Amino acid sequence: MQAKEILNTGPLIPVITLQDPKQGVPLAHALLKGGVKILEITLRTAGALEGIALISKEVPEAIVGAGTILNAPMLKQAKEAGARFAISPGINAKFAKEAQGIDIPLIPGVASAGELMLALEYGFDALKLFPAEAVGGVKLLKSLSAPFKGVQFCPTGGISLENMGAYLALENVACVGGSWLTPQDLMAKGQWDQITQIAQKSLQAVQAQKG
Ligand code: 3PG
Repeated sequence: MQAKEILNTGPLIPVITLQDPKQGVPLAHALLKGGVKILEITLRTAGALEGIALISKEVPEAIVGAGTILNAPMLKQAKEAGARFAISPGINAKFAKEAQGIDIPLIPGVASAGELMLALEYGFDALKLFPAEAVGGVKLLKSLSAPFKGVQFCPTGGISLENMGAYLALENVACVGGSWLTPQDLMAKGQWDQITQIAQKSLQAVQAQKG
C-alpha cells in the first residue's frame, strides 16, 4: 500500500501505547469489531515491537503500523516486526533521505510550511500534522491547502470526538489520529467491549457529520 492509501483506509487512526505486548491482539480485535481496521502502535514502550509482531501475525485483517519513529534504525525495526506503515512525529533531512531506502510507507510528521517543503523534496506527500491542535489545527490546514495542493494530512495531537469533525470536513484531511479511541485505563482492565463501543460511536459521529 502507498502512504496515501493508508491515510484513506479509514477516517480514524487510533494512536496506541501498549503497556504490555499481549494487549495488542485483543485490542486489534476490539477495534476491528468496532469498524476500525487500521491502528498505530507507538514505539514508546519496551513491548511495542513485540505487540506489532503479534498483531501482524495473529490479526492479519488489521492494518498495523508503527508510530513515534524517530530515525532510520527504528523504521527498519518496525518493518522487520511486521508493521505495514510507519508514522514519525517530525521530519529532518537525514531521516527523510535514509527512509527513502527502506521499503515501507512512511507518513512523516510536519508542523509548518517549511517542514512540508522538506517532506515534498523527498517525495513524501501523505503527512501527519503534529501536534495538530498546538500548531494551529484547522486554521493551519486551511492555510496550507492553497500553496500545497495534492498534499494529504492526518492531523494528530489533541484530536477528540468533539473536534474531529472540523478536521475531517477539510479537503486536505484524509483521516485523523488520536489516543481517545483507546484509553489506557480500559486497556489495562481489558475492557475491550468498551473500546469497540468507542470506535463505533466515533465512526457513527463521522457518518452523521457527512449526512
Ligand atoms: C501522539 O503522538 O501521542 C499522538 O499524536 C496522540 O495525541 P493525542 O493523545 O493528543 O491524541
